Amino acid sequence: MSHATPEFVFMTCRAGAESALKQEVARVEPAWRPAFSRPGFLTFKHAGETPLDDTELGERHWTFAHSHGVSLGRLTGTQLAELVRQVWQHAGVSAIVNSKTPLEIHVWQREPAFDDAGDETFVTPLCLEIEAALRVAAPESAIVQRAISTPRRAAPHNSRVLDVVVVEPGEWWIGYHRAVRRVERWPGGVIPVRLPAHAVSRSYVKLEEALQWSDLPLAREDECVEIGCAPGGASQALLERGLFVTGIDPAVVDPTVLAHPRFRHLKKRGSDVRRQEFVGVRWLTADMNIAPNDTLDEVEAILTNPQAAIRGLVLTLKMSDWSVATRLPEFVERVRAWGFRDVRTRQLVTGGQEVCLVALRRKALRRLGRKRNRVGALSRERQDAGHDVPAGPHF
Ligand SMILES: C[S@@+](CC[C@H](N)C(=O)[O-])C[C@H]1O[C@@H](n2cnc3c(N)ncnc32)[C@H](O)[C@@H]1O
Repeated sequence: MSHATPEFVFMTCRAGAESALKQEVARVEPAWRPAFSRPGFLTFKHAGETPLDDTELGERHWTFAHSHGVSLGRLTGTQLAELVRQVWQHAGVSAIVNSKTPLEIHVWQREPAFDDAGDETFVTPLCLEIEAALRVAAPESAIVQRAISTPRRAAPHNSRVLDVVVVEPGEWWIGYHRAVRRVERWPGGVIPVRLPAHAVSRSYVKLEEALQWSDLPLAREDECVEIGCAPGGASQALLERGLFVTGIDPAVVDPTVLAHPRFRHLKKRGSDVRRQEFVGVRWLTADMNIAPNDTLDEVEAILTNPQAAIRGLVLTLKMSDWSVATRLPEFVERVRAWGFRDVRTRQLVTGGQEVCLVALRRKALRRLGRKRNRVGALSRERQDAGHDVPAGPHF
């Protein structure tokens, strides 16, 4: 469907990752030109002959972009009501309102702030105030919910979303996108994952985001090896999904993780572990504070063992400096060469200066996963209840 004549794309990213994102866009879309740029927010001029289409854009992915969409430009003002009026009067917004498609509204700011619980959030109280005002003032013809639902629900798959990025309180950038992928269903591409009080490290939330973003078909009772597991936050996230976890790390693992009946610790470097330990293992995660090629060397040594039948990987690739980002295609190729045909990369919202790479042997496994008996987090009560768990391959 054509609207005004969209010519610009907006993207949001981790503040500091702008040049990595610009390089990525220059590599993938050499005809696009960087236009506006602030920490965490960029626009690009699309120089193609056909207007941008939000459905086509929705299927696109950039490693360093947390979110992206068709940009309709900047609105400035000092009064909330005046800015809200400008949004609904914008010709590009009218075009999507009149398309008779239900409209979702996402409002978030380009850099996170801390909420009352001390967690980072992009949807600040100001953003909620703006969203509420937008909903109330939406034109009659807009098929839009007049109040924000609490708790917020993900935008329905394939729905159209009006985006308002609060670049400054009096400077909003507006646009729209199709909620095709899971991340696109949440404001700013920020999947709501929280760090629970019992987590022993922030890696808990990072792995949760990686699993929710990638939708890897992990199942209860699967065995996962985690290289670089200490102190154990990511292992906790896996254990709470009912997996068996072998954590490999010469460093000390938190006693609460060590005590879990489905966890065992091999206090070694990855390269020092007997290959036998990987037989029957389905998943491998690696989160080591070493250079990407060194992480890949460690993983490769395991995968080249003919007995290893690892189905999927979740690897953290540290970008010690941003110039490493230009080598991402090389890292992806290396993983593909090991026989993983479905390789995706994303700079996670909860991650640091690093990229998460997930890989599956075959893309069809993604579908298979939906049919398997998948589980979310087990309740704390259940985990604490005792040790009556069936034995996994190495347990
Ligand atoms: C960022 S921390 C991992 C955090 C951990 N994933 C968690 O969930 O708490 C990085 C870890 O990588 C470990 N490491 C570095 N090189 C390693 C190697 N070759 N083999 C195993 N672990 C390694 C370090 O000892 C360190 O504990």
